[in-house]
Amino acid sequence: MYPLNRNRRLRSSTAIRALVRETQLSNNDFIVPLFIVEGKDIKKEIISMPDYFQLSINNAEKEVKELWDIGIKAVLLFVKVEDNLKDNKGSEALNKNGLMQRAIKSIKNIVPEMLVMTDVALDPYSSYGHDGIVENSKILNDPTLDVLSKMSISHAYAGADFVAPSDMMDGRVLKIRQALEKEGFIDTGIMSYGVKYSSSLYGPFRDALDSSPGFGDKNTYQMDFANSNEALNEVNKDIEEGADIIMVKPGLPYIDILNSLSKKFDIPFAVYQVSGEYSMLKSAVSKGFLDYDKIVLEQLFSFKRAGASMIATYHAKEAVKLLNKI
Ligand code: PBG
Repeated sequence: MYPLNRNRRLRSSTAIRALVRETQLSNNDFIVPLFIVEGKDIKKEIISMPDYFQLSINNAEKEVKELWDIGIKAVLLFVKVEDNLKDNKGSEALNKNGLMQRAIKSIKNIVPEMLVMTDVALDPYSSYGHDGIVENSKILNDPTLDVLSKMSISHAYAGADFVAPSDMMDGRVLKIRQALEKEGFIDTGIMSYGVKYSSSLYGPFRDALDSSPGFGDKNTYQMDFANSNEALNEVNKDIEEGADIIMVKPGLPYIDILNSLSKKFDIPFAVYQVSGEYSMLKSAVSKGFLDYDKIVLEQLFSFKRAGASMIATYHAKEAVKLLNKI
């Protein structure tokens, strides 16, 4: 009761605020998404993602060394596939010498301790820009599972530590887990993008990889943004099917979902602060409307407070620099 209790006492200095701080954020919390392209010495800014780049493998190697040196321990790889290699079945995804497979090998070779996670979905390989095989304008579920499993095996052979299926087909975690076990990859983990909403915030990412759907949208497989109950269902299934980590995506607009799931389930949750969130923040900062250094840490702390064990974010490098200052 006031004045016996004054909540401001615990906020009255930097020192006491540090002692009572409930949430910590550090270099150990981040996963850095990398966009890999063919070629050499390429570092090309993504127009809708200012200060973020497509990298050729040799530049990705440099980047990974730098990331490791500042204490970042995980990267999530995406590849931009040449148009002439795209087809309906994502055949190129299984090429042992494909861009993804070469990128995994090079990165593991340069920094073996770096945790390499790989995106598993057909969209960058699909001539339709969809995450599954298309027939009569429908995205087929079960035939897609076979490609996703083979793709996962192929990433595991190249050296991936975790595969990260982002396609939202039903049953894919089970099929991938079974395939990995059968091939002896018992230690290869699965980070399932189990709670992935159909979001316009993926727009800049699709620019970066030239992977926009050629027709329609992704509403028949990604989740409706008006729903939260089905997230429970998705997580239950993914845990049963053998997922090691579950991702909620996008980040900030779905923080309610992240919070309720992390309270209900004892599995580590990752959150993906996606490309559109990055672009919004960068645009506001470039106009002078927001202070980058402050807004970045505030948002990243919010993810931790809501229950994320780890955060995939395009701000990771900057955030580590900022955290070293506080
Ligand atoms: C591919 C995939 C997408 C993202 C990650 N994996 C795009 C999509 O589903 O259309 C989006 C990431 C971002 O926007 O930063 N399945």
